[in-house]
This record gives sequence, C-alpha cells and structure tokens, in this order.
Amino acid sequence: MPIISLSSFKGGVAKTTSAICLASLFCEDGTTLVIDADPNRSATTWARPGGLPFEVCGEKEAAKLMRSQKFEYIIFDTPARPNDIEIEELARGCDLLIVPTPPDILGMDAMTLIAKSLPPDSNWKVLLTMVPPAPQKDGQEAMEALKAQGYPVFSRGIRFYKAYKDAVAQGVPPYKVRGGKLAWRDWAEIKSEIIQALQG
Ligand SMILES: Nc1ncnc2c1ncn2[C@@H]1O[C@H](COP(=O)(O)OP(=O)(O)O)[C@@H](O)[C@H]1O
Ligand SMILES: [Mg+2]
Repeated sequence: MPIISLSSFKGGVAKTTSAICLASLFCEDGTTLVIDADPNRSATTWARPGGLPFEVCGEKEAAKLMRSQKFEYIIFDTPARPNDIEIEELARGCDLLIVPTPPDILGMDAMTLIAKSLPPDSNWKVLLTMVPPAPQKDGQEAMEALKAQGYPVFSRGIRFYKAYKDAVAQGVPPYKVRGGKLAWRDWAEIKSEIIQALQG
C-alpha cells in the first residue's frame, strides 16, 4: 500500500491539486484514498459533488477506513506551514514526500526551507507546478537551477491550465473538464517517474 504525502511551507502551491491528480492517476491501478489533513478541507470540497473516482476522508476518519484494508494507494494532503516535528512525522509516515512549488522565487525559497527540515534519509522529490506556458522559460530555468543545486526534482513540471480551476468548480478530475485532456498529459507522463520514486 504505497503512501504519498504532499507538503510545503507555502500555501497555494498546488498541494491539494496534486493530491487529487495523483489519486485520479493511481485509482486506475487500485482503490485509492485521499486523506484530507488540511483544516481548510479543500480536497473534501473538491470531492463534495461526487464526481471523483476515489474516496476522500478527513484525517480523523482515516484509521477506521484504513482498517478495512480496501485501499491500495493512500495520498495524504496536508496544510501549509508544518513545523519541524510535523515535517519529520510526515516524511517518516510515507513512502514518498512530494513538495510542489511553482517556479518562482517565493515558492523555491520555501522549498529550500522544507528541504533543510527533512530528515536526511527522507524519500522526497520536488514537483514544479503551475509552470507558465512556452515561450516563457520559468519552468525550464527553475528545473535547471534545482538540478544544479542537487535537489531531487521530477523531470517534467505541471503546466498552468485553466482546467484545474474548472475541475474544482465541477468536482471532477481535471481530465474531465473542457481542455483538461491537454493538461492531463503532464500527469500521464510523470506517472512512471512517480512509481519509480516510490521505490526509493
Ligand atoms: N497547474 C495548474 N494550473 C492552473 N491552476 C492551478 C494549477 N495547480 C493549481 N492551480 C490552482 O492554484 C490554486 C492553489 O492550488 P491548491 O492545490 O489549492 O494549493 P495548496 O493546496 O498548496 O494550497 C487553486 O486555485 C488551483 O486551482
Ligand atoms: Mg491545499
């Protein structure tokens, strides 16, 4: 039962969006549960209309649901600004910790802070999100900077598409909305890299 957690110091970097997309991706392979540990309950709000092909539950319901042993993938969405103890617990409590960040200074700075707080043996990887479309080079430049500094980073970023906001509004996975299939290619293409990263 692979467990993937999303974490960042900053809010609005696409943790919840990534959690829902990862679950939409992995539920093709096995029953998937998203644990919504953010008091804002954004993932729960996204799920409310009933159009997601997997379950979303609150943190406090999770133990009982997991006892049913019906889930093959667990995705853990968390609030921003975890303290050092919470980061350590998060890193230890999953198989892969994904730190999403847009390719901008504030996001990247927050990412380096979380990197410093992670226990040295953590299995974690940066995911560039909300990457501006070509010909803007922000994504490519951020990717090169991260690699040059030795950060583990997924080889492909998630580009900025309106489909993500529409998907929240409609309570469905992004590939279900107009223009969403185009956006979804980014996820389809990093799936194998995520599976590889899960194996540590
Ligand atoms: N790739 C993307 N393209 C466009 N908008 C995005 C993308 N990823 C996230 N968003 C939007 O950015 C906002 C913040 O995303 P969210 O997942 O809620 O961040 P967090 O959980 O880190 O606070 C939301 O309005 C979401 O729809
Ligand atoms: Mg969130």
